[in-house]
Amino acid sequence: MKYKIAVIAGDGIGPEIVAEAIKILNVAGELSGHEFEYKHVLMGGCAIDATGVPLPEETVEICKTSDAVLLGAVGGPKWDNLPGHLRPEAGLLGIRSALGLYANLRPAKLEPALADACPLKPSVVGEGFDMLIVRELTGGIYFGLRGRRMGDGGEEAYDTEVYSVKEIERIARVAFKASQLRKKKVTSVDKANVLESSRLWREVVHRVASEFPDVELEDMLVDNAAMQIVKNPGRFDVMVTSNMFGDILSDEASMITGSIGMLPSASLGDGTLGLYEPIHGSAPDIAGRGIANPLATILSAAMLLRYSLGLGEEADAVERAVAKTLDDGLRTPDIAGGAEGVRVVGTSEMGDAVARNLKSALCAREG
Ligand code: IPM
Ligand code: MG
Repeated sequence: MKYKIAVIAGDGIGPEIVAEAIKILNVAGELSGHEFEYKHVLMGGCAIDATGVPLPEETVEICKTSDAVLLGAVGGPKWDNLPGHLRPEAGLLGIRSALGLYANLRPAKLEPALADACPLKPSVVGEGFDMLIVRELTGGIYFGLRGRRMGDGGEEAYDTEVYSVKEIERIARVAFKASQLRKKKVTSVDKANVLESSRLWREVVHRVASEFPDVELEDMLVDNAAMQIVKNPGRFDVMVTSNMFGDILSDEASMITGSIGMLPSASLGDGTLGLYEPIHGSAPDIAGRGIANPLATILSAAMLLRYSLGLGEEADAVERAVAKTLDDGLRTPDIAGGAEGVRVVGTSEMGDAVARNLKSALCAREG
């Protein structure tokens, strides 16, 4: 089959890490008889520089007519002082919304080889952890009414958290379905002791739960969830939560996997079109130095193969190739930790090693 992949390299380390993910996709394609056609499009700071806006119409059109979108990262200090709607991040929120990608899957799993890079004590980590954060992505405070106004005490600013029953139902269903393929346990994270939007969230999630009698549901307040992630991460299977809570908790979860440079994500809607990006940002401080960790983007490419192209076997092979590369002792500086016997490598050397391991795995399959 021939697949169209829109590529948004973006800013900062974006182009460096995306190049490595494309290397991996090419190996997967070649060895499984599929052809990937890449269309590079602009979004974020580079789009602002070239066209004056963070999300050109052409980018939206090309993404809409592709099978999947691969994204690096956007943003950087150069564009920090622009008004909100013209910042690079507005491009990211705009594309998620324009493509109807309301479900953001962020798996956080401790690779055994990275146990040394995990900041938690072995007694806390126990047998390791493997959680999936399902973050609502096109609603909540990110998209609610915001503005400035004059109040009694002078100038004020406000942002609004709004969730409809429909929005909560559809994200809850994604979480329950995902858990059916895992340990069948969903933790719904909210702040129902304070927020009305969270009280509706909780009500609706419980209603949806009755469609999935085989799945266990628990509620957890977000402050407690933040604590449990570092106290007992192994207790979680699928966590479902709002846009902002999911943003924060997924960064926290990424840190205990060893590095924010390890966490991939898939943003999905009702069809198969999805957008795949590492959860980390554009890291302008290390851009251009060839030291960024490409693994989160490579693992995002694996999710692309699995969810948008239906190439589950190839996706598994990419994930195994990453694990093998780590087992072999290769580390980018962010995951080097204090472990003995590891070899610190740069971005492209890491990508090459994963590509080699993937090639041998897929060739062995052919043989
Ligand atoms: C993420 C990022 C974005 C978000 C930013 C860059 C707008 O932090 O994908 O987690 O908050 O969604
Ligand atoms: Mg974030």
